[in-house]
Amino acid sequence: MDFSLSEEQLMIQQAAKDFAQNELLPGVIERDDAQTFPDELVRKMGELGFMGMMVNEKYGGSGLDTQAYVLAMEELSKVDASASVMVSVNNSLVCWGLETYGSEEQKQKYLTRLASGEVIGAFCLSEPEAGSDATSQKTTAIDKGDHYLLNGTKNWITNGGRAEVFLVIAQTHVEKGHHGINALIVEKGMPGFEIGPKENKLGIRGSDTHSLLFNDVKVPKENRIGADGFGFKFAMKTLAGGRIGIAAQALGIAAGAYELALQYSKQRKAFGTEISNHQAIAFKLADMHTKIQAARLLVYQAATDKDNGNDYTLSGAMAKLYASEVAMETSVEAVQIHGGNGFVKDYHVERLMRDAKITQIYEGTSEIQKIVISRSIIKD
Ligand code: CAA
Repeated sequence: MDFSLSEEQLMIQQAAKDFAQNELLPGVIERDDAQTFPDELVRKMGELGFMGMMVNEKYGGSGLDTQAYVLAMEELSKVDASASVMVSVNNSLVCWGLETYGSEEQKQKYLTRLASGEVIGAFCLSEPEAGSDATSQKTTAIDKGDHYLLNGTKNWITNGGRAEVFLVIAQTHVEKGHHGINALIVEKGMPGFEIGPKENKLGIRGSDTHSLLFNDVKVPKENRIGADGFGFKFAMKTLAGGRIGIAAQALGIAAGAYELALQYSKQRKAFGTEISNHQAIAFKLADMHTKIQAARLLVYQAATDKDNGNDYTLSGAMAKLYASEVAMETSVEAVQIHGGNGFVKDYHVERLMRDAKITQIYEGTSEIQKIVISRSIIKD
């Protein structure tokens, strides 16, 4: 596969790098500490076109390909994975789902505002008792003629407190199992829709994660995405692409930690020389560099599959599985190379290590990726 980058892709990569260095790096430690992320920064990401990167320009997006998107995701994630998860969820799960399966009216009403970053969205599948086992939805959307009556709880929802538009997966025909599930567009402020308290998390602390409570929320029928019963397929197809975004995020965390460790090892002296001259450190750097490049190739392959119209369920799952394992491993090694300084917030690597963990969990745990991969290779 030829992964040479076009001029446009290189330009996007540079723009994301500049934004990360100039706008995200200042204050990243404080945002992590305080679990905040200013609206101003979200607005800037929207203005720069990061919130609807792959959306057609006629709906307010940037009209770019998946390759450009993963390049941007890597650069943003090197510095601030809290920012990049907002970008990933809005792009891959919310905008892509709406653009691919939404009606023209839904695109005009919601997608245009989401793609321009005027508002941001959330994807609501997980529940207190249905995380990995996504077919076991308990939230119900009962058909009442001109509307659905939505009841239940969603958990661990990224952008939960900040989003204005929520894609909610719920069971309409319980007897039909996953064939009875629908995806509904729910707006913040609909009567009966309550946002639960913010989670206090290990990592990606700048990104807000909430549970959501639905108590007799009336959702108009025209807010259903696709045909009756399409909701589970909608979730699976959307997540298949979402996993490419998270793989790129994991790649960025790994690369960010590695770059800091490399730089540090060339400055820090021990036993009379820079620590990079000690084989114990040099071999760690060699392993990190090799694994990151392997992860990058998997991410690029998945992005290329998507851009070429090929099936990307398998390549996306492989990219996410591997890149997230590399993110964890590499960030732990980056802390080790920094020694005592690695344990101190000022050096950034401890945050990257904490941020890395979630990439092995959300949008399908590593174990779920292995289910997807093994089923795919066994059926072929
Ligand atoms: N594309 C299209 N259809 C798919 C599909 C895909 N990639 N994967 C499964 N399906 C379809 C199947 O074909 C099947 O439909 P039919 O019966 O019509 O053939 C249906 O979905 C059910 O599939 P399975 O029988 O394989 O279902 P399962 O119960 O064995 O589970 C699973 C499959 C892959 C494990 C799935 O449950 C899964 O992906 N679980 C993980 C859920 C997940 O990723 N959650 C993350 C939450 S979102 C999040 O984290 C967002 C955030 O805020 C950051």
